[in-house]
Amino acid sequence: MQGRTKVSVSDIVAMKRREKISVLTAYDYSTAQICDRAGIDILLVGDSVGMVVLGYTSTMPVGMQEMIIFCGAVARGAKRAMIVGDMPFGSYQPGPSLAVENAVQLIKAGCDAVKLEGSSEIVGTIKAIVDAGIPVMGHIGLRPQTSSLWEGYKLQGRTKEAAIKLIEEANVLEKAGVFSIVLEMVATEVVDAITKSVSIPTIGIGSGPSCDGQVLVLHDMLGIYQDIQPRFVKRYAELSKSIFDAVSGYNRDVKDGRFPEESNTFYMNREELGKWKNERKR
Ligand code: KIV
Repeated sequence: MQGRTKVSVSDIVAMKRREKISVLTAYDYSTAQICDRAGIDILLVGDSVGMVVLGYTSTMPVGMQEMIIFCGAVARGAKRAMIVGDMPFGSYQPGPSLAVENAVQLIKAGCDAVKLEGSSEIVGTIKAIVDAGIPVMGHIGLRPQTSSLWEGYKLQGRTKEAAIKLIEEANVLEKAGVFSIVLEMVATEVVDAITKSVSIPTIGIGSGPSCDGQVLVLHDMLGIYQDIQPRFVKRYAELSKSIFDAVSGYNRDVKDGRFPEESNTFYMNREELGKWKNERKR
């Protein structure tokens, strides 16, 4: 959706089946500005920041104070895109009251909506956040915050029972008032059925083409993050190599005295320099 005004919840809902929704993660001011200028509809300040920026081995250690800082930076960089802030592990599981308090903090940091992983087990919490006037994006399928405690990062919806459960979970989320649902690593036939059975947009990651929108982690699609390279990611650049080449060039130039050049150098006022030289001669 191109245009100059801020993308709203009703814009996103209206895009279902009309126009695909583009979503990327963003964690800082400068990349948020670039993604916003490129016309991305939603910038998700994902807790994936814990892995691709902070170097944790999972998203689990990420806390509210970290999310508030990253959400603020992205919100200052994006004028048009909707900003969705991920609620980190531990910020909503204890119950609705803490969850509302933490969701309010992300909105105060500049987010337009929040995202939570889960369905029926947190339905009361989702309703409480929506009742507080805060738009919620749901997230089912693979749930990175807790999947490492159970079966690891695996495709979801492989069996008939799992498919039926996922459709139920999506319907529970819609009834609870979420405005869109992230489907992570879900078999494409199940994604197709979910997308047809709910009236809100589905946003896929590793979930095939039939979702109403797609999301990728920025550092994956730019080829910056090297630790894990999922098959569902399409790499639009190999910035890790470009950054390595640039940094190596700088390193060589500094060592060999080729940087800074004339154009990077500043001089004193000539008259002042003359006076100073004369004084030093005396
Ligand atoms: O944290 C994140 O980046 C996410 C996406 C994978 C949807 O939740």
